Amino acid sequence: MKLSAFGRKFTRNSGILRLMDDLGSAISAGSGKMLMLGGGNPAHIPEVQKYFRTRMESILANGKEFEQTIGDYDGPQGENGFIEVLAELLRKEYGWKIGPENIALTNGSQTAFFFLFNMFAGKGSYGGSRIRRKILFPLAPEYIGYADMGLSDDFFAARKPGIEMLGSQIFKYHVDFSNLKVSGEIGAICVSRPTNPTGNVLTDDEIMNLSDIAGSHDIPLIIDNAYGTPFPNIIFTDAKPIWNENIVMCMSLSKLGLPGLRTGIVIANRKIISSISAMNAIFSLAPGGFGVSLAYDIVASGKIISISRDIIRPFYQAKAETAVSHIQREFKDCGCCIHKPEGALFLWLWFKGLPISSMELYERLKKRGVLIVPGNYFFPGMDGSWKHRNECIRLTYAQDDGVVRKGISIMADEVRKIRRTGNKSR
Ligand SMILES: Cc1ncc(COP(=O)(O)O)c(C=O)c1O
Repeated sequence: MKLSAFGRKFTRNSGILRLMDDLGSAISAGSGKMLMLGGGNPAHIPEVQKYFRTRMESILANGKEFEQTIGDYDGPQGENGFIEVLAELLRKEYGWKIGPENIALTNGSQTAFFFLFNMFAGKGSYGGSRIRRKILFPLAPEYIGYADMGLSDDFFAARKPGIEMLGSQIFKYHVDFSNLKVSGEIGAICVSRPTNPTGNVLTDDEIMNLSDIAGSHDIPLIIDNAYGTPFPNIIFTDAKPIWNENIVMCMSLSKLGLPGLRTGIVIANRKIISSISAMNAIFSLAPGGFGVSLAYDIVASGKIISISRDIIRPFYQAKAETAVSHIQREFKDCGCCIHKPEGALFLWLWFKGLPISSMELYERLKKRGVLIVPGNYFFPGMDGSWKHRNECIRLTYAQDDGVVRKGISIMADEVRKIRRTGNKSR
Protein backbone atom coordinates (compact mmCIF):
# COMPACT_ATOMS: atom_id res chain seq x y z
CA MET A 1 0.00 0.00 0.00
CA LYS A 2 1.53 3.33 -1.04
CA LEU A 3 0.49 5.96 1.44
CA SER A 4 0.41 9.73 1.45
CA ALA A 5 1.96 11.68 4.33
CA PHE A 6 -1.57 11.89 5.79
CA GLY A 7 -2.00 8.13 5.34
CA ARG A 8 1.27 7.40 7.08
CA LYS A 9 0.67 9.79 9.94
CA PHE A 10 -2.83 8.61 10.78
CA THR A 11 -2.25 4.88 10.38
CA ARG A 12 0.86 4.58 12.50
CA ASN A 13 0.90 2.91 15.85
CA SER A 14 -0.39 5.67 18.12
CA GLY A 15 -0.90 5.46 21.86
CA ILE A 16 -4.64 5.94 21.48
CA LEU A 17 -4.82 3.08 18.94
CA ARG A 18 -3.02 0.78 21.35
CA LEU A 19 -5.34 1.85 24.16
CA MET A 20 -8.53 1.36 22.15
CA ASP A 21 -7.23 -1.97 20.76
CA ASP A 22 -6.52 -3.21 24.27
CA LEU A 23 -9.97 -2.05 25.34
CA GLY A 24 -11.72 -3.69 22.38
CA SER A 25 -9.89 -7.02 22.77
CA ALA A 26 -10.47 -7.11 26.52
CA ILE A 27 -14.18 -6.46 26.06
CA SER A 28 -14.57 -9.05 23.29
CA ALA A 29 -12.54 -11.64 25.23
CA GLY A 30 -15.22 -11.38 27.90
CA SER A 31 -15.03 -10.82 31.60
CA GLY A 32 -12.50 -12.77 33.59
CA LYS A 33 -9.88 -12.94 30.82
CA MET A 34 -8.08 -9.63 31.42
CA LEU A 35 -8.20 -7.29 34.38
CA MET A 36 -9.07 -4.18 32.49
CA LEU A 37 -7.62 -1.21 34.32
CA GLY A 38 -6.62 0.43 31.07
CA GLY A 39 -9.09 2.35 28.90
CA GLY A 40 -11.58 5.02 29.81
CA ASN A 41 -14.78 3.06 29.40
CA PRO A 42 -17.35 4.44 31.83
CA ALA A 43 -19.05 2.08 34.25
CA HIS A 44 -22.48 0.62 33.54
CA ILE A 45 -24.38 2.34 36.35
CA PRO A 46 -27.66 0.45 36.78
CA GLU A 47 -29.88 3.48 37.67
CA VAL A 48 -28.55 5.46 34.73
CA GLN A 49 -28.88 2.56 32.31
CA LYS A 50 -32.41 1.96 33.55
CA TYR A 51 -33.29 5.55 32.79
CA PHE A 52 -31.99 5.27 29.22
CA ARG A 53 -33.79 1.95 28.71
CA THR A 54 -37.08 3.53 29.79
CA ARG A 55 -36.46 6.52 27.54
CA MET A 56 -35.73 4.16 24.62
CA GLU A 57 -38.99 2.33 25.28
CA SER A 58 -40.87 5.61 25.18
CA ILE A 59 -39.15 6.61 21.91
CA LEU A 60 -40.28 3.27 20.44
CA ALA A 61 -43.81 3.71 21.72
CA ASN A 62 -44.16 7.34 20.77
CA GLY A 63 -45.71 7.62 17.26
CA LYS A 64 -42.97 8.18 14.71
CA GLU A 65 -40.22 9.33 17.08
CA PHE A 66 -38.07 6.25 16.50
CA GLU A 67 -38.45 6.42 12.71
CA GLN A 68 -37.59 10.12 12.72
CA THR A 69 -34.55 9.61 14.95
CA ILE A 70 -33.07 6.93 12.74
CA GLY A 71 -34.48 8.04 9.41
CA ASP A 72 -33.42 11.71 9.06
CA TYR A 73 -30.15 13.59 8.86
CA ASP A 74 -29.88 16.52 11.23
CA GLY A 75 -28.34 19.80 10.07
CA PRO A 76 -24.54 20.12 10.37
CA GLN A 77 -24.82 21.98 13.70
CA GLY A 78 -26.78 19.08 15.19
CA GLU A 79 -30.34 18.49 16.32
CA ASN A 80 -32.02 21.88 16.91
CA GLY A 81 -34.46 20.81 19.62
CA PHE A 82 -31.68 19.42 21.82
CA ILE A 83 -29.46 22.45 21.23
CA GLU A 84 -32.29 24.78 22.27
CA VAL A 85 -33.08 22.99 25.53
CA LEU A 86 -29.40 22.72 26.42
CA ALA A 87 -28.83 26.44 25.82
CA GLU A 88 -31.84 27.22 27.99
CA LEU A 89 -30.65 24.94 30.79
CA LEU A 90 -27.16 26.48 30.88
CA ARG A 91 -28.60 30.01 30.73
CA LYS A 92 -31.05 29.32 33.53
CA GLU A 93 -28.76 27.33 35.84
CA TYR A 94 -25.46 29.13 35.39
CA GLY A 95 -26.34 32.48 33.83
CA TRP A 96 -24.20 31.74 30.76
CA LYS A 97 -25.09 34.23 28.05
CA ILE A 98 -25.67 31.67 25.34
CA GLY A 99 -28.29 30.75 22.76
CA PRO A 100 -28.56 27.96 20.20
CA GLU A 101 -26.00 29.82 18.06
CA ASN A 102 -23.40 28.99 20.73
CA ILE A 103 -23.75 25.20 20.58
CA ALA A 104 -22.74 22.62 17.99
CA LEU A 105 -22.79 18.82 18.26
CA THR A 106 -20.11 16.47 16.97
CA ASN A 107 -19.67 12.73 16.61
CA GLY A 108 -18.04 12.36 20.02
CA SER A 109 -15.96 15.10 21.60
CA GLN A 110 -12.82 13.41 20.22
CA THR A 111 -13.89 14.69 16.79
CA ALA A 112 -14.39 18.19 18.19
CA PHE A 113 -10.77 18.28 19.38
CA PHE A 114 -9.53 17.27 15.94
CA PHE A 115 -11.52 20.15 14.42
CA LEU A 116 -10.55 22.72 17.05
CA PHE A 117 -6.86 21.89 17.25
CA ASN A 118 -6.42 22.01 13.49
CA MET A 119 -8.46 25.23 13.28
CA PHE A 120 -6.15 27.04 15.65
CA ALA A 121 -2.75 25.44 15.08
CA GLY A 122 -0.56 24.26 12.22
CA LYS A 123 0.68 26.26 9.25
CA GLY A 124 -1.31 29.37 8.45
CA SER A 125 -1.54 33.07 7.97
CA TYR A 126 -2.48 34.34 11.41
CA GLY A 127 -3.33 38.02 11.32
CA GLY A 128 -1.22 38.39 8.18
CA SER A 129 1.96 36.66 9.37
CA ARG A 130 2.71 33.23 7.95
CA ILE A 131 3.82 31.07 10.84
CA ARG A 132 3.24 27.66 12.31
CA ARG A 133 1.23 27.64 15.50
CA LYS A 134 0.87 25.10 18.30
CA ILE A 135 -1.68 24.04 20.89
CA LEU A 136 -0.35 24.65 24.39
CA PHE A 137 -1.03 22.29 27.29
CA PRO A 138 -0.20 24.40 30.34
CA LEU A 139 -0.15 21.37 32.59
CA ALA A 140 1.26 18.07 31.35
CA PRO A 141 0.41 15.17 31.75
CA GLU A 142 -2.59 15.55 29.45
CA TYR A 143 -5.04 13.28 27.62
CA ILE A 144 -3.42 10.60 25.43
CA GLY A 145 -6.12 11.10 22.79
CA TYR A 146 -4.77 14.53 21.81
CA ALA A 147 -1.30 13.30 20.94
CA ASP A 148 -1.77 12.36 17.28
CA MET A 149 -4.43 14.84 16.24
CA GLY A 150 -2.31 17.46 14.54
CA LEU A 151 -2.32 17.48 10.75
CA SER A 152 1.34 18.47 10.91
CA ASP A 153 4.15 17.35 13.19
CA ASP A 154 5.50 19.41 16.07
CA PHE A 155 1.97 20.52 16.81
CA PHE A 156 1.88 20.76 20.61
CA ALA A 157 3.74 22.52 23.37
CA ALA A 158 3.43 21.47 27.01
CA ARG A 159 4.64 22.71 30.36
CA LYS A 160 5.72 20.74 33.40
CA PRO A 161 3.47 21.08 36.43
CA GLY A 162 4.38 22.21 39.90
CA ILE A 163 4.25 19.14 42.18
CA GLU A 164 2.88 19.54 45.70
CA MET A 165 3.30 16.64 48.14
CA LEU A 166 0.25 16.23 50.38
CA GLY A 167 1.60 13.73 52.87
CA SER A 168 3.92 10.85 52.02
CA GLN A 169 1.67 9.00 49.54
CA ILE A 170 -0.45 11.72 47.90
CA PHE A 171 0.63 14.53 45.57
CA LYS A 172 -1.07 17.11 43.39
CA TYR A 173 -0.07 18.94 40.21
CA HIS A 174 -0.63 22.66 39.76
CA VAL A 175 -0.26 24.91 36.72
CA ASP A 176 3.16 26.54 37.05
CA PHE A 177 2.20 30.05 36.03
CA SER A 178 5.77 31.26 36.55
CA ASN A 179 6.80 29.04 33.62
CA LEU A 180 3.83 29.76 31.37
CA LYS A 181 5.17 32.04 28.66
CA VAL A 182 2.72 32.31 25.78
CA SER A 183 4.47 33.38 22.60
CA GLY A 184 3.04 34.19 19.16
CA GLU A 185 3.50 30.55 18.14
CA ILE A 186 0.64 29.44 20.44
CA GLY A 187 -2.77 29.23 18.73
CA ALA A 188 -4.89 28.00 21.65
CA ILE A 189 -4.50 26.79 25.23
CA CYS A 190 -6.13 23.50 26.18
CA VAL A 191 -6.80 21.74 29.48
CA SER A 192 -8.93 18.78 30.45
CA ARG A 193 -10.88 19.41 33.68
CA PRO A 194 -10.95 16.95 35.41
CA THR A 195 -7.69 15.94 33.82
CA ASN A 196 -7.33 12.61 32.13
CA PRO A 197 -5.02 10.87 33.21
CA THR A 198 -4.47 12.29 36.69
CA GLY A 199 -7.94 13.07 38.07
CA ASN A 200 -6.67 16.58 38.85
CA VAL A 201 -9.30 19.32 38.85
CA LEU A 202 -7.90 22.73 37.99
CA THR A 203 -9.22 25.25 40.49
CA ASP A 204 -11.62 28.03 39.46
CA ASP A 205 -8.73 30.47 39.94
CA GLU A 206 -6.44 28.46 37.67
CA ILE A 207 -9.15 28.41 34.99
CA MET A 208 -9.83 32.14 35.30
CA ASN A 209 -6.12 32.85 35.13
CA LEU A 210 -5.73 30.71 32.00
CA SER A 211 -8.77 32.38 30.46
CA ASP A 212 -7.23 35.83 31.12
CA ILE A 213 -3.90 34.76 29.67
CA ALA A 214 -5.60 33.33 26.56
CA GLY A 215 -7.75 36.48 26.22
CA SER A 216 -4.75 38.76 26.48
CA HIS A 217 -3.14 36.91 23.55
CA ASP A 218 -6.38 36.83 21.57
CA ILE A 219 -6.44 33.04 21.48
CA PRO A 220 -9.11 30.70 22.88
CA LEU A 221 -8.95 28.58 26.03
CA ILE A 222 -10.30 25.11 25.18
CA ILE A 223 -11.66 23.27 28.21
CA ASP A 224 -12.17 19.54 27.82
CA ASN A 225 -15.10 18.91 30.10
CA ALA A 226 -15.64 15.23 29.20
CA TYR A 227 -15.85 14.32 32.91
CA GLY A 228 -16.69 17.77 34.17
CA THR A 229 -19.42 19.89 35.53
CA PRO A 230 -22.41 20.22 35.19
CA PHE A 231 -22.58 16.79 33.54
CA PRO A 232 -21.46 14.04 34.04
CA ASN A 233 -19.98 15.91 37.04
CA ILE A 234 -17.40 13.31 38.03
CA ILE A 235 -15.73 15.91 40.23
CA PHE A 236 -15.08 15.46 43.94
CA THR A 237 -13.97 19.03 44.71
CA ASP A 238 -15.73 22.37 44.44
CA ALA A 239 -15.50 23.46 40.85
CA LYS A 240 -17.72 25.95 39.06
CA PRO A 241 -18.80 25.48 35.47
CA ILE A 242 -17.07 28.47 33.85
CA TRP A 243 -17.71 29.80 30.35
CA ASN A 244 -17.17 33.06 28.50
CA GLU A 245 -16.94 34.11 24.85
CA ASN A 246 -13.25 33.23 24.80
CA ILE A 247 -13.69 29.76 26.29
CA VAL A 248 -14.47 26.78 24.08
CA MET A 249 -16.17 24.27 26.33
CA CYS A 250 -16.20 20.71 24.98
CA MET A 251 -18.63 18.32 26.60
CA SER A 252 -19.75 14.79 25.90
CA LEU A 253 -22.53 12.34 26.64
CA SER A 254 -20.02 9.47 26.80
CA LYS A 255 -19.17 9.48 30.49
CA LEU A 256 -22.83 10.00 31.32
CA GLY A 257 -23.18 6.44 30.09
CA LEU A 258 -23.58 6.76 26.31
CA PRO A 259 -20.09 6.25 24.82
CA GLY A 260 -21.52 4.02 22.08
CA LEU A 261 -23.67 6.86 20.75
CA ARG A 262 -20.74 9.21 20.02
CA THR A 263 -22.15 12.58 21.05
CA GLY A 264 -19.92 15.58 21.64
CA ILE A 265 -21.08 19.10 22.46
CA VAL A 266 -19.11 22.29 21.77
CA ILE A 267 -20.10 25.54 23.47
CA ALA A 268 -18.34 28.59 22.09
CA ASN A 269 -18.79 31.97 20.46
CA ARG A 270 -20.89 31.95 17.32
CA LYS A 271 -17.94 32.20 14.89
CA ILE A 272 -16.38 29.03 16.29
CA ILE A 273 -19.75 27.27 16.27
CA SER A 274 -20.35 28.05 12.61
CA SER A 275 -16.84 26.76 11.84
CA ILE A 276 -17.58 23.50 13.67
CA SER A 277 -20.84 23.14 11.70
CA ALA A 278 -18.95 23.73 8.45
CA MET A 279 -16.44 21.02 9.35
CA ASN A 280 -19.19 18.62 10.40
CA ALA A 281 -20.73 19.03 6.94
CA ILE A 282 -17.44 18.18 5.23
CA PHE A 283 -16.29 15.35 7.48
CA SER A 284 -19.57 13.66 8.39
CA LEU A 285 -22.50 15.60 6.85
CA ALA A 286 -24.17 15.82 10.25
CA PRO A 287 -23.61 14.57 13.79
CA GLY A 288 -25.52 11.43 14.78
CA GLY A 289 -28.84 12.07 16.50
CA PHE A 290 -29.42 9.04 18.69
CA GLY A 291 -27.49 10.22 21.75
CA VAL A 292 -29.27 13.55 21.88
CA SER A 293 -32.59 11.86 21.37
CA LEU A 294 -31.99 9.57 24.38
CA ALA A 295 -30.79 12.50 26.48
CA TYR A 296 -33.39 15.05 25.32
CA ASP A 297 -35.81 14.60 28.23
CA ILE A 298 -33.23 14.88 30.99
CA VAL A 299 -31.79 18.01 29.44
CA ALA A 300 -35.21 19.60 28.89
CA SER A 301 -36.23 18.86 32.49
CA GLY A 302 -32.83 19.72 33.97
CA LYS A 303 -32.70 16.22 35.46
CA ILE A 304 -29.31 15.66 33.83
CA ILE A 305 -27.85 17.85 36.57
CA SER A 306 -29.38 15.91 39.46
CA ILE A 307 -28.61 12.50 37.87
CA SER A 308 -24.98 13.62 37.55
CA ARG A 309 -24.81 15.10 41.05
CA ASP A 310 -26.77 12.45 42.94
CA ILE A 311 -26.03 9.22 41.06
CA ILE A 312 -22.98 9.48 38.83
CA ARG A 313 -20.65 11.51 41.04
CA PRO A 314 -21.21 9.51 44.27
CA PHE A 315 -20.87 6.26 42.31
CA TYR A 316 -17.39 7.16 41.08
CA GLN A 317 -16.34 8.87 44.28
CA ALA A 318 -17.04 5.71 46.27
CA LYS A 319 -15.08 3.67 43.73
CA ALA A 320 -12.17 6.10 43.87
CA GLU A 321 -12.04 5.89 47.65
CA THR A 322 -12.14 2.09 47.60
CA ALA A 323 -9.36 1.93 44.99
CA VAL A 324 -7.19 4.38 46.94
CA SER A 325 -7.54 2.33 50.10
CA HIS A 326 -6.54 -0.87 48.21
CA ILE A 327 -3.50 0.90 46.83
CA GLN A 328 -2.44 2.35 50.16
CA ARG A 329 -2.72 -1.09 51.72
CA GLU A 330 -1.10 -3.08 48.92
CA PHE A 331 1.70 -0.64 48.21
CA LYS A 332 2.62 0.06 51.81
CA ASP A 333 6.40 0.63 51.90
CA CYS A 334 6.64 0.07 48.16
CA GLY A 335 7.22 3.58 46.87
CA CYS A 336 3.92 4.45 45.24
CA CYS A 337 2.42 7.96 45.32
CA ILE A 338 -1.12 8.66 44.14
CA HIS A 339 -2.21 11.90 42.52
CA LYS A 340 -4.99 13.32 44.71
CA PRO A 341 -8.13 11.88 43.10
CA GLU A 342 -10.38 14.87 42.43
CA GLY A 343 -12.42 13.52 39.53
CA ALA A 344 -12.67 11.50 36.27
CA LEU A 345 -12.30 7.69 36.31
CA PHE A 346 -8.59 7.37 36.91
CA LEU A 347 -5.81 7.10 39.41
CA TRP A 348 -2.38 8.32 38.43
CA LEU A 349 0.38 6.47 40.24
CA TRP A 350 3.96 7.65 40.54
CA PHE A 351 6.61 4.98 41.20
CA LYS A 352 9.50 7.25 42.05
CA GLY A 353 12.88 5.72 41.19
CA LEU A 354 11.43 2.55 39.60
CA PRO A 355 14.35 0.87 37.79
CA ILE A 356 12.26 0.07 34.67
CA SER A 357 10.13 2.40 32.55
CA SER A 358 6.34 2.54 32.83
CA MET A 359 6.23 1.03 29.32
CA GLU A 360 8.14 -2.04 30.50
CA LEU A 361 5.91 -2.22 33.55
CA TYR A 362 2.87 -2.17 31.22
CA GLU A 363 4.30 -5.10 29.23
CA ARG A 364 5.05 -7.12 32.35
CA LEU A 365 1.60 -6.50 33.79
CA LYS A 366 -0.08 -7.39 30.50
CA LYS A 367 1.67 -10.77 30.65
CA ARG A 368 0.14 -11.22 34.10
CA GLY A 369 -3.35 -10.36 32.80
CA VAL A 370 -3.57 -6.75 34.01
CA LEU A 371 -4.00 -3.86 31.60
CA ILE A 372 -2.95 -0.37 32.65
CA VAL A 373 -1.74 2.57 30.56
CA PRO A 374 1.95 3.56 30.70
CA GLY A 375 2.35 7.20 31.66
CA ASN A 376 4.79 8.24 28.92
CA TYR A 377 1.91 8.57 26.43
CA PHE A 378 0.40 11.45 28.37
CA PHE A 379 2.99 14.11 27.60
CA PRO A 380 2.18 15.30 24.08
CA GLY A 381 4.24 18.37 23.24
CA MET A 382 6.82 17.90 25.96
CA ASP A 383 10.35 17.35 24.85
CA GLY A 384 13.40 16.66 26.94
CA SER A 385 13.98 13.78 29.23
CA TRP A 386 11.93 14.39 32.32
CA LYS A 387 12.33 11.16 34.29
CA HIS A 388 8.93 11.59 35.92
CA ARG A 389 7.10 10.83 32.65
CA ASN A 390 8.47 7.27 32.65
CA GLU A 391 7.69 6.67 36.31
CA CYS A 392 3.90 7.02 36.21
CA ILE A 393 0.98 4.90 35.10
CA ARG A 394 -2.76 5.42 34.79
CA LEU A 395 -5.37 2.98 35.95
CA THR A 396 -9.12 3.20 35.84
CA TYR A 397 -11.35 2.33 38.77
CA ALA A 398 -14.57 2.32 36.74
CA GLN A 399 -14.60 -1.49 36.58
CA ASP A 400 -16.04 -3.87 39.11
CA ASP A 401 -14.38 -3.38 42.56
CA GLY A 402 -13.22 -7.02 42.62
CA VAL A 403 -11.42 -6.58 39.30
CA VAL A 404 -9.80 -3.35 40.48
CA ARG A 405 -8.69 -4.93 43.76
CA LYS A 406 -7.22 -7.99 42.05
CA GLY A 407 -5.45 -5.84 39.45
CA ILE A 408 -3.95 -3.62 42.14
CA SER A 409 -2.64 -6.52 44.15
CA ILE A 410 -0.97 -8.12 41.09
CA MET A 411 0.53 -4.72 40.28
CA ALA A 412 1.87 -4.31 43.81
CA ASP A 413 3.38 -7.79 43.67
CA GLU A 414 5.11 -6.99 40.37
CA VAL A 415 6.40 -3.61 41.51
CA ARG A 416 7.71 -5.13 44.72
CA LYS A 417 9.61 -7.76 42.68
CA ILE A 418 11.02 -5.10 40.37
CA ARG A 419 12.19 -2.97 43.26
CA ARG A 420 13.79 -6.02 44.87
CA THR A 421 15.54 -7.41 41.80
CA GLY A 422 16.35 -4.22 39.88
CA ASN A 423 15.41 -4.28 36.19
CA LYS A 424 15.85 -8.03 35.64
CA SER A 425 12.76 -9.82 34.33
CA ARG A 426 11.51 -12.56 36.55
C1 LIG B 1 -10.32 13.79 28.51
C2 LIG B 1 -11.11 13.20 27.40
N1 LIG B 1 -11.51 14.02 26.41
C3 LIG B 1 -12.23 13.56 25.38
C4 LIG B 1 -12.57 12.23 25.29
C5 LIG B 1 -13.35 11.78 24.10
O1 LIG B 1 -14.60 11.32 24.46
P1 LIG B 1 -15.80 11.12 23.44
O2 LIG B 1 -15.26 11.23 22.04
O3 LIG B 1 -16.35 9.79 23.75
O4 LIG B 1 -16.76 12.25 23.72
C6 LIG B 1 -12.19 11.34 26.28
C7 LIG B 1 -12.52 9.90 26.21
O5 LIG B 1 -12.13 9.09 26.97
C8 LIG B 1 -11.43 11.84 27.37
O6 LIG B 1 -11.01 11.05 28.35
